Amino acid sequence: MKFRTFATALLAGVFLASPVLAADQHFLADRHVAKGVKCESCHNPGAPSSKNVTPQNCLKCHGGSYEKLAEQTAGGDINYHNTHLGPIACTECHQGHKPPKLVCDQCHEFSVKVP
Ligand code: HEC
Ligand code: HEC
Ligand code: HEC
Ligand code: HEC
Repeated sequence: MKFRTFATALLAGVFLASPVLAADQHFLADRHVAKGVKCESCHNPGAPSSKNVTPQNCLKCHGGSYEKLAEQTAGGDINYHNTHLGPIACTECHQGHKPPKLVCDQCHEFSVKVP
C-alpha cells in the first residue's frame, strides 16, 4: 500500500514534469536557430562539430569581447563573465545541443541557472 502510493505519486510526477521536459529540450542552439542564427554563425566553416565552435564566433554577436560581455552581465552578486578563471571558453558553461553546465561547480556550489 505504501509502495503503491509512492508509485502513484511518482507517476503523477512524471506526467506533471513532461511538458517542462519538452521545453527543456529546446537547447541554446535551437533557440538561436529559431531566431534566424545559422549553424555557420557559431560553427566555423566545414561540418559542424564540437571542435569548431569558438568564443570568437559567439562574441561577434555578444558584445565583441569578453570585457564588453562582462559589462552587460555586471550587477549580480557574481559576474560569471569576469571571474578568477579568466576568459575561458563559453562552452565551459553554455552548451549548444545539450543541457548547460557550470564549470565553477567543480569547486563551488552556486545556484545560478546557465542559459
Ligand atoms: C549570429 C549572432 C549570434 C551568435 C553567433 C551567437 N548568438 Fe547567442 N544570441 C543571439 C541572439 C539574436 C539571441 C537572442 C537575444 C534575445 O532574445 O534578446 C542570443 C541569445 C543568447 C543567450 C541568452 C538567451 C538564451 O536563449 O538563452 C545566450 C546565453 C547566448 N546567446 C549564448 C551564445 C553562445 C555561447 C554563442 C556561441 C556558441 C552564441 N550565443 C552565438 C545571437 C547570436
Ligand atoms: C563560468 C560560466 C560561463 C561562461 C564561461 C560563460 N557564461 Fe555566459 N552566462 C553564464 C551564466 C551563469 C549566465 C546567466 C547569468 C545570470 O543569470 O546572472 C550567462 C548569461 C549569458 C548571456 C545572457 C546575458 C543576458 O544579459 O541575459 C549571454 C549572451 C552569454 N552568457 C554569453 C556568453 C558568451 C558569448 C560566453 C563566452 C565568450 C560566455 N557566455 C561564457 C555563465 C557563463
Ligand atoms: C548558438 C550556437 C550554435 C548554433 C546556432 C549551432 N550550434 Fe552546433 N554546437 C554548438 C556548441 C556550443 C557545440 C558544442 C557543445 C555541444 O555539443 O552542445 C555544438 C556542437 C555541435 C555538434 C557536435 C555534437 C557532438 O555531440 O559532438 C554538431 C554535429 C552540431 N553542433 C551541429 C549543428 C548544426 C547542424 C547546426 C545548425 C542547425 C548547429 N550545430 C547550430 C553551438 C551551436
Ligand atoms: C578548481 C576549483 C575552482 C573553480 C573551478 C572555481 N573556483 Fe572560485 N574559488 C576557488 C578557491 C580555492 C577560492 C578561494 C577560496 C577562499 O579564499 O576561501 C575561490 C574563490 C572564489 C570566490 C570568492 C571571492 C574571490 O574572488 O576570492 C568567488 C566569488 C569565486 N571563487 C567564484 C568562482 C566562479 C564564478 C567560478 C566559475 C567561473 C569559480 N569560482 C571557479 C576554487 C575554484
